Amino acid sequence: MKKFSQRFRFGLAAVLLASSLAGCGIVSDGGGGAGSGSGKAPNNSGGAANGGAGDDGKIVIGMSMDTLKEERWQKDRDIFTEKVQELGGEVKVLAANGDDATQLSQAEQLISQGVDVLVVIAHNAEATAPIVEKAHKEGIKVIAYDRMINNAEVDYYISFDNVRVGELQAQAVTAAAQKGNIVYIGGADTDNNAHMFKEGAMNVLKPLEEKGAIKIVYDQFSKDWKPEEALKNMENALTANKNDVQGVVAANDATAGGAIQALTAQGMAGKIPVSGQDADLAAVQRIAEGTQLMTVYKPIKSIATKAAEMAVSAAKGETISADKTVNNGKIDVPSVLLDPIPVDKSSLNTVIEDGFHKLEDVYKNVPKDQWPQQ
Ligand code: BGC
Repeated sequence: MKKFSQRFRFGLAAVLLASSLAGCGIVSDGGGGAGSGSGKAPNNSGGAANGGAGDDGKIVIGMSMDTLKEERWQKDRDIFTEKVQELGGEVKVLAANGDDATQLSQAEQLISQGVDVLVVIAHNAEATAPIVEKAHKEGIKVIAYDRMINNAEVDYYISFDNVRVGELQAQAVTAAAQKGNIVYIGGADTDNNAHMFKEGAMNVLKPLEEKGAIKIVYDQFSKDWKPEEALKNMENALTANKNDVQGVVAANDATAGGAIQALTAQGMAGKIPVSGQDADLAAVQRIAEGTQLMTVYKPIKSIATKAAEMAVSAAKGETISADKTVNNGKIDVPSVLLDPIPVDKSSLNTVIEDGFHKLEDVYKNVPKDQWPQQ
């Protein structure tokens, strides 16, 4: 494998260190330190000097995450890690809390620890490009997870059909609103996905606007996908239109939450359709209660499991079958794109049957006699 020479070097260093320590009579048995004589790195949590990834032959995958704030990302991390472990590897996760410089230095840290493959969930599609270059210099393949890294030689991309996500959202909102003023509350401008969701939504909204059925009266991104940014956007949209708004296409459940908060303040929650995405618990509860029209469910289990399989295969130097390509401004990246699923009040069962949420959690705020029959 590509990291062989590096491993060999570190392995040799460990053995040499062990024998020199042994010479000094300070090697303990089975302590798990460099001096244990096993030739194994004690663990893989340290820096490069610790032996880096896989001195013991174990595959180590680095996961550089934008954030763990939204509910979905914790699921992504947990399912991904579990699957890699099941395949015999281990995962080192670092999350950057939405900060580009932090994500860059954390990725560098993972690279210097000698991970076999780096999986990146980019905060910023452009700013993460140097990570790819740095990883490649060390012979480490990079998988862009859920979010594309633009203008870089990304090895693989795994995500959902994100344009389709936007189409599903706008279709549902305009089917419910039929006509009138539509507000678009977008995600983070820095996230390539936010642009694809918007592209999809506009594929549906623009032709309706051209026909004169609807009018797009507001269209703004929400910094870092923050609900408070979406709240401000929605307040501005309502003020600018004197509350004459008939539907809201919100790009995800976090932004939908912010938008619904603004609608609530005007006594409009539940009266006009609002879309979302992710099937976050708070959002499916709002759907059950009637303040959110729909969400787009993206089975995290599918993307995290598939990504784990891809990462482990890439670490083994195996070829990965990716039936599509997505251009990222530099190359056509071999890609796996999964299907998103629209979920509204009539299909909440989808997320329950899939084990994504429990029935009692989804309907927590709804009187029990209104719960679906089991
Ligand atoms: C993801 C969404 C998520 C959003 C905010 C997007 O890139 O595709 O599922 O809601 O980021 O974290």
